[in-house]
Amino acid sequence: MKNIVILISGSGSNMLAILKAAQRDRWAAKYRARVSAVISNRADAAGLALAREQGITTEVLDHKAYASRDAFDAALAQRIDHLGGPGEPLVVLAGFMRILTPGFVGHYSGRLLNIHPSLLPAFAGLNTHQRAIDAGCQLAGATVHLVTPELDHGPILAQAAVPVLPHDSADTLAARVLTQEHVIYPAAIEKMLQKT
Ligand code: GAR
Repeated sequence: MKNIVILISGSGSNMLAILKAAQRDRWAAKYRARVSAVISNRADAAGLALAREQGITTEVLDHKAYASRDAFDAALAQRIDHLGGPGEPLVVLAGFMRILTPGFVGHYSGRLLNIHPSLLPAFAGLNTHQRAIDAGCQLAGATVHLVTPELDHGPILAQAAVPVLPHDSADTLAARVLTQEHVIYPAAIEKMLQKT
């Protein structure tokens, strides 16, 4: 079995879209792949309950319990490799709101994916939707990319664009973008599984 470990910090809607796609599109039968665990750095992440409802093992690793970023990332990697073993799991960041150390990123090189709510390379970082509105963009969107040490960079695997409408707020635009995230993230993961 090829194991996938999903990391979340919040509502987990991308995680749920991935879990549903894995079932619907029979990843276990087609690719011998399955989501083996969901890990959150926040105990109050709503996505944890959603994962459990789907029968997925969950774990919380609170970053505040660690003295340094390096210490947290080392503990996180240990848990990912345990829950995603045997073999090398695919690690999927789905609204995981932590900056990762170069050591962590290097350990998962080529098998660490992220989704970012902008059309990268535009608007790396936070507040992407408000920044797109403020810049007068007519299009916004989301990007799935391989993670490299530089934040929100790395080879692009998939993108989707949506219109920015005249009366959009950051929230209405985010909701429109999110519907597309739920399409492109599972599709990008499935493409990776086809290759491995
Ligand atoms: C998504 O919009 C994702 O693109 C974004 O957080 C949201 C998580 O929603 N990620 C980032 O901003 C990463 N820098 P979800 O928990 O419902 O999937």
